Amino acid sequence: MPLICVCSPKGGVGKTTLAANLTYALARAGSKVLALDFDVQNALRLHFGVPLSDERGYVAKATDSYDWSQYVLGAGGNMFVLPYGEVTEQQRVDFEDRLANDEHFLARGLGTLLNYPGLVIIADFPPGPSAALKAMTPLADIHLVTLMADTASMSLLPHVENNRLTGEALNHKHGHFFVVNQSDSRRQISRDVTAFMEERLGEQLLGIIHRDESVIEANASQKSIFEFSPSSAAAFDIEIIAKKVAAKLGVKVGDGTVHNMPRMSGL
Ligand SMILES: Nc1ncnc2c1ncn2[C@@H]1O[C@H](COP(=O)(O)OP(=O)(O)OP(=O)(O)O)[C@@H](O)[C@H]1O
Ligand SMILES: [Mg+2]
Repeated sequence: MPLICVCSPKGGVGKTTLAANLTYALARAGSKVLALDFDVQNALRLHFGVPLSDERGYVAKATDSYDWSQYVLGAGGNMFVLPYGEVTEQQRVDFEDRLANDEHFLARGLGTLLNYPGLVIIADFPPGPSAALKAMTPLADIHLVTLMADTASMSLLPHVENNRLTGEALNHKHGHFFVVNQSDSRRQISRDVTAFMEERLGEQLLGIIHRDESVIEANASQKSIFEFSPSSAAAFDIEIIAKKVAAKLGVKVGDGTVHNMPRMSGL
């Protein structure tokens, strides 16, 4: 089941981009991977070619259905996406309410997926603390905290260190690790913050991703960085992070062969 949570105290730092490209990287390496969206922005699906007009998702029906795997969409090859979907404000509030107050809600809705043999799940969250992150935390194998190489992210580091994201230690299994995104060696401030993060985080810094225009273009064309610009700095950086995550979780990194997924409702 390995469950990876991509979170951050800060918005706009590249969580969704990282979650999506890690999905591609691990799927390319041979794993079956599900990208799971907990953000009402409903943007994760856009990285997998789901059209903007496609309103499907699990949240609108989450409070009265017991198995959310039926809302999974195939994303080609070994990849699957469970979009948040378009919701009314009341549906969003009801979902948040159940996440906060029903301790079995998530485990039940995601039960089939969490128990699916070998399926790697990569969950993307809204910025800052959220009911979803708090509810997912006990189930997660690893948390990846995304920060940017800027002073705003640096100032929020204590939020993570002081358990302000969930009110408790982020991860009790493999631990929580950091990714510094959009590091730009041409800018002094970015170099300084990157160096600070390296020193402060030590082994907890899993990787640094260069600021790279091809990431923005890949996102705009709904492609992974590996497909859009395989020789780019960001593709290289994210591949390394994927390998480190796989090693920490004991996920077998295969030969890149795409295996067929046995059908399971939406899967
Ligand atoms: N390495 C990178 N180089 C250049 N641009 C990047 C990089 N990573 C992400 N971006 C761009 O940064 C912007 C924010 O990325 P993204 O939406 O993934 O962040 P987020 O943390 O998920 O945001 P939110 O908090 O709103 O959910 C996007 O325009 C994306 O294309
Ligand atoms: Mg996002």
